[in-house]
Amino acid sequence: MMAFGDAIRVKTRREIDAMREASRHVAEVLLELRELTKPGVTTGELDQHARKAIRKRGVESSFLGYGPYGLPPYPGVLCVSVNDEVVHGIPGSRELGEGDIVSLDFGAACEGYHGDSAVTLALGPVPAVAQKLVDVTRDALDRAIEQMVPGKRLSDIGHAVQVRAESEGFSVVRQFVGHGIGREMHEPPQIPNYGPAGRGPRLRPGMVFAIEPMVTAGSPDVEILEDEWTAVTADGSLAAHFEHTILITENGPEVLTRVPGSH
Ligand code: MF3
Ligand code: CO
Repeated sequence: MMAFGDAIRVKTRREIDAMREASRHVAEVLLELRELTKPGVTTGELDQHARKAIRKRGVESSFLGYGPYGLPPYPGVLCVSVNDEVVHGIPGSRELGEGDIVSLDFGAACEGYHGDSAVTLALGPVPAVAQKLVDVTRDALDRAIEQMVPGKRLSDIGHAVQVRAESEGFSVVRQFVGHGIGREMHEPPQIPNYGPAGRGPRLRPGMVFAIEPMVTAGSPDVEILEDEWTAVTADGSLAAHFEHTILITENGPEVLTRVPGSH
């Protein structure tokens, strides 16, 4: 557990260049995957496409084999989390259907430096509450990114997520958080998607964070399935998840995982 007080490393220009490159690949692969994410495709086919894209681009997967705290090594390069699955859904034989909401979470590294991003897609017409959940979660991430200017404080980010999500009666997941990112996919600090504004260290140019609101239409509580990875809502309600890797610059946030057409 990292507390707000732990030092947050400011990246060098060389590190930032590598993260920019990794993040651009992540954004482009997510756009490719978006085109394939249609009713009838299996989550394993999406992972297979992502593996090919990684090979073609000469980057490394951030997720494959990842296994902190005694967890089994993550078996895919992509997380695909459907409906009540919040995050870390393992790709397999599950077929996507019309009406599903599907989170695709992808990470890759260049020269050892990571980029990490996720998007939730609504497949065909979905129930109104599902569409609203997706739209509000994306908007909550945008509100969080607006806070990422030099001089603001770390907790301003999560506070913005919570205010936006709860304004619509939705809940913010507590058990997973955003994070620093760089040479490791997960670096200090942890960045909860909730809490008061105005706490923690001041944001400075050169800091890079992965911000990832997870929002549910019901209770905020999650459970982990027997595969030890898949997180589902405890009450079976729908969940949405968006993520970007963001560099703080003198001029404000630079969303490294955004290319034209991205979320
Ligand atoms: N974007 C997720 C995160 O930041 C991806 C982790 S999946 C894992 O936690 F397999 F790599 F753990
Ligand atoms: Co992340």
